[in-house]
Amino acid sequence: MTDTTSTTQPAYKIIDHTYDVVVVGAGGSGLRATMGSAEAGLKTACITKVFPTRSHTVAAQGGIAASLGNNSPDHWSWHMYDTVKGSDWLGDQDAIEYMVREAPAAVYELEHAGVPFSRNEDGTIYQRPFGGHMQNMGEGPPVQRTAAAADRTGHAMLHALYQQSLKYAADFFIEYFAIDLIMTGEGANRRCVGVIAMCMDDGTIHRFRAHSVVLATGGYGRCYYTATSAHTCTGDGGGMVLRAGLPMQDMEFVQFHPTGIYGAGVLITEGARGEGGYLTNSEGERFMERYAPSAKDLASRDVVSRSMALEMREGRGVGPEKDHIFLHLDHIDPAVLAVRLPGITESGKIFAGVDLTRQPLPVTPTVHYNMGGIPCNYHGEVVTLGPDGNPDHVVPGLFAVGEAACVSVHGANRLGSNSLIDLVVFGRATGHRLKDIIKPGTAHDELPADSAEMALGRLDHFRHASGGSPTAAIRREMQQTMQKHAAVFRDSALMAEGVRQLAETNKRMEDIHVTDKSLIWNSDLVETLELDNLMAQANVTMVSAENRKESRGAHAHEDFPDRNDAEWMKHTIAWFEGWGGKGGKVSIDYRPVHEYTLTDDATYIAPKKRVY
Ligand code: FUM
Repeated sequence: MTDTTSTTQPAYKIIDHTYDVVVVGAGGSGLRATMGSAEAGLKTACITKVFPTRSHTVAAQGGIAASLGNNSPDHWSWHMYDTVKGSDWLGDQDAIEYMVREAPAAVYELEHAGVPFSRNEDGTIYQRPFGGHMQNMGEGPPVQRTAAAADRTGHAMLHALYQQSLKYAADFFIEYFAIDLIMTGEGANRRCVGVIAMCMDDGTIHRFRAHSVVLATGGYGRCYYTATSAHTCTGDGGGMVLRAGLPMQDMEFVQFHPTGIYGAGVLITEGARGEGGYLTNSEGERFMERYAPSAKDLASRDVVSRSMALEMREGRGVGPEKDHIFLHLDHIDPAVLAVRLPGITESGKIFAGVDLTRQPLPVTPTVHYNMGGIPCNYHGEVVTLGPDGNPDHVVPGLFAVGEAACVSVHGANRLGSNSLIDLVVFGRATGHRLKDIIKPGTAHDELPADSAEMALGRLDHFRHASGGSPTAAIRREMQQTMQKHAAVFRDSALMAEGVRQLAETNKRMEDIHVTDKSLIWNSDLVETLELDNLMAQANVTMVSAENRKESRGAHAHEDFPDRNDAEWMKHTIAWFEGWGGKGGKVSIDYRPVHEYTLTDDATYIAPKKRVY
């Protein structure tokens, strides 16, 4: 630890630290950015609220997409085509080109860092099919592009990346909760110069001054009641960004994974269908053949989730309530299941009491991923609408990577296994950018006089909050509204009511009650700060969804069932005013989609009808 000075602000002692780079979050993208920054010789700290190898990347199962071509022919241009099509043409094609071209090198780098990938007989990395990934510029057949370490790929990656970060001597501040960014300057010169965090163990307050802060805080899936996301997925970076007066992007696009275990929400990897699994309705019909005659069960996630929802809506769901679907793996050789899918075989037993080798598994579409996030470019730099109207204005000193970010490579719908590759490609790109722009040992900007005011003001406010509504009650109300009003299918009336209800729930934050007033491992307080982050993003998501009058990717608007490129091929950016129930206004503007490639090697992929 590099404690330099200690000062005293009213009521809270602040411990100061000075770094070149501070990364917030230690999942796949945070660790890759930490590793890159430290490797570049920059004095780097990583702040994380959970032990690094317990970050949510640990739950990523099926694998990481890269056109290695080990198990079937492949090419980066095919990967690019599939990603653009999967995004329903909302993805930025320059960033997508960057990701797919860097993907093979990023996977080999992981292999060399120690990730124990599953192997083919010839020793090459094993790759399986995943939804929406096809050969021959979408023509098919499915491509085997997803490199896997059985069905524990994220787990393996986290361990390797944490070890590498330690090798390069990054400092880790583990079980520290980041509260707010330190911003300074006005207009085009507004920039980030650090972050305030609390050590959860003893309640000490830490001020991290840095040339750059990298937000790698993951998604905000926990604003829904049922999600595959860990309970830690509370979008803390997004909350900080909104409070810093910066916008979030494309928040209306929330991915439902087709195969969450019914009732439990636990993820069953798409790799299950990649290995030959299939879905059936109450009539035993393999209904995906009707909805996606070519890709069938391996169509992209939004398509499969909508098809399942329609089957249930039309009375062909299974079970007494006809509210789930069966996933079959019982025809697959048990030896293959044991080698390729051991984790979900165990999950099936534990969470559904099902022996996958003999019985179908009850599944239902479950919130899984946020395509939206903190707008940034393919270097990881946070962007916003500049004071001069530049839609790609870079906010100096602030980066975002991973699910917290919206680069945007996933647009309106992410393809499975494009998340893990996004984490490492853009974590690595961020490391490169940091190396380019920061000279180790350069003097830091003066901190603004009010550097800790926002963070300590919020902390103190919530710590002493003694209204009538426990945090858990307000959180549940928010989650139930999101679950019902921002679901797989939406319509104008449903979303307008969702906007109204969430605004009411947001106001209840003024009446919140935190029982534990201490500063020692105060999970009541931390959950309240997390709820404040979730609440802002839930409101932004609902208002952005209500605002978008078309259907695109994961946003299936029943009153506007078609994609409308003429009016809506644009990124939503949205600001949220206030915190703790005060304010609550969401304002919306737009950024253009990057309808151009990064280099002349790639061909621009023109919009067309999206069929699988
Ligand atoms: O299905 C899965 O294994 C999840 C992968 C992903 O979201 O990329």
